[in-house]
Amino acid sequence: MKVLYGIAVALLVLAAAAVAYAVSPRAIEAVKRPDPQSFDGATVAHGERLALIGNCAECHTAEQGEAYAGGRAIPTPFGTIYATNITPDPETGIGTWSREAFRRSMYEGLDREGEHLYPAFPYHHFTKVLPEDIDALYAYLMTREPVRNEAPANELRFPFNLRPLLAGWKLLYLDNGRFAGLADADEKVNRGAYLVQGLAHCGGCHTPRNALQAEKKDEFLQGEVTENWYAPAISGDVPAAVKWSENQLADYLTGRWVEQHGVALGAMAPVAHNLSRVTDEDVVAISAYIASLMEDDTAETDAEITGAVGERPDSGDVGAVIYAGACAVCHDASPSPFAAGLPLAFSTSLRIPTPLNLIQIIENGVKPPEGQPGRYMPGFAGALTDEQLVALASYLRGRFTGRDPWADIDSVVKATATEGSAGAEISNAE
Ligand code: HEC
Ligand code: HEC
Ligand code: HEC
Repeated sequence: MKVLYGIAVALLVLAAAAVAYAVSPRAIEAVKRPDPQSFDGATVAHGERLALIGNCAECHTAEQGEAYAGGRAIPTPFGTIYATNITPDPETGIGTWSREAFRRSMYEGLDREGEHLYPAFPYHHFTKVLPEDIDALYAYLMTREPVRNEAPANELRFPFNLRPLLAGWKLLYLDNGRFAGLADADEKVNRGAYLVQGLAHCGGCHTPRNALQAEKKDEFLQGEVTENWYAPAISGDVPAAVKWSENQLADYLTGRWVEQHGVALGAMAPVAHNLSRVTDEDVVAISAYIASLMEDDTAETDAEITGAVGERPDSGDVGAVIYAGACAVCHDASPSPFAAGLPLAFSTSLRIPTPLNLIQIIENGVKPPEGQPGRYMPGFAGALTDEQLVALASYLRGRFTGRDPWADIDSVVKATATEGSAGAEISNAE
């Protein structure tokens, strides 16, 4: 890791020097905040749906904060980055940004003054978005209420706190080209690809990253850890127990419960909640494209899974005892539709390479979003010791998947415990 880090830094410095030598970004002149009346209603409404697909509010709103006013902490391996205020406030937001400055930020990751922005802002995906959609986003943001709020300064380790180094990152990894369309795909799948690769930046969570946090192009959507959750592979031979159908994907992606797959939890819940508020056409397109990426999945469609698939447990196993006493009531056969959990043989969280999601779910439980009906699971953080959690996770993996045991349950349990409520408030968007 030390060596990798060294190489990474050396590469960055070299590349940055090269870029700095070649070009230095200019500032774009400040403008007076455009009159909200100057944007037409249909464009603003279109921009609102695009902002949902792009999850802009998810990153740009602090907990308990005003929408788009910034301040949310985004943890990275190099320190914490705070999302900025993108309301049209002239001093603390983007009120003085022209359409040109906004476009440039989305395509080149530069702020109005020409400073490089960190790729925690997924501009490396937004480069695919067509200019008319970027302009609709601009219209939507510029017609929000301006909110005065200064985002905290980033807390990044040296040398990552040096923005000019990002020129090097961009030279290596930023491909500033619009979506060009897929060969051999119909209109629906093409629309889906446009959204998934661009605005919806699904790869921001689901694609493995290298030491410099750049997504590995040849492992597109193959599964990665993001903010204490593992976003499973959703292309190729995926870990889901049952092959996803296009319709199941559309239901799941809009926060509905899917019989053989459960419901979106953790970092996926807000994504699904947002997609439940866009047009059906866009959701259907995204689902069609994702289904096409899963074509070669070897799982069966509509597979019947009943009870255990792994080895039968020893009746003295601590994990087996906990499962029977604390979990089976909801996960084997449940009387209440709102308490019913997925039979765990269907759960992708048991089939991925890490116990992270399982531990998060057991510790924090599952809550429906505030004020809405939904499925509920109590959190067991205070009720189970670390040893019991490890025994339970190991038992569930063995009994319900028949896959190789997880090697790192211990450390995952310790890490999630010290991070405290990092993954708390797990809701589902149903
Ligand atoms: C995954 C989190 C994330 C998402 C999603 C996201 N952003 Fe950001 N954005 C950031 C972060 C972090 C920064 C600040 C980067 C920095 O300080 O270098 C930022 C910066 C920006 C900036 C530059 C603002 C400035 O003052 O420099 C703009 C404009 C912006 N985002 C617009 C958007 C829009 C529009 C969307 C939705 C289409 C969006 N962002 C989605 C994290 C995100
Ligand atoms: C902010 C991070 C994030 C983003 C962005 C994101 N996902 Fe996810 N996704 C996750 C996580 C975490 C899970 C695991 C959730 C769980 O276990 O319930 C997940 C689960 C899924 C699953 C279920 C996989 C399975 O077999 O259970 C699908 C399908 C999916 N995402 C599709 C998408 C698509 C399509 C997009 C883009 C429109 C997307 N995701 C964007 C984090 C994300
Ligand atoms: C009161 C009922 C209830 C109890 C008790 C309960 N769960 Fe759940 N569980 C749920 C519900 C509801 C969900 C959310 C729906 C879903 O996705 O299955 C859920 C989700 C899950 C998931 C994610 C399934 C997925 O979608 O991939 C796992 C894993 C899980 N529970 C494990 C456990 C374990 C382990 C225990 C015992 C320590 C337990 N649950 C106890 C109701 C319950």
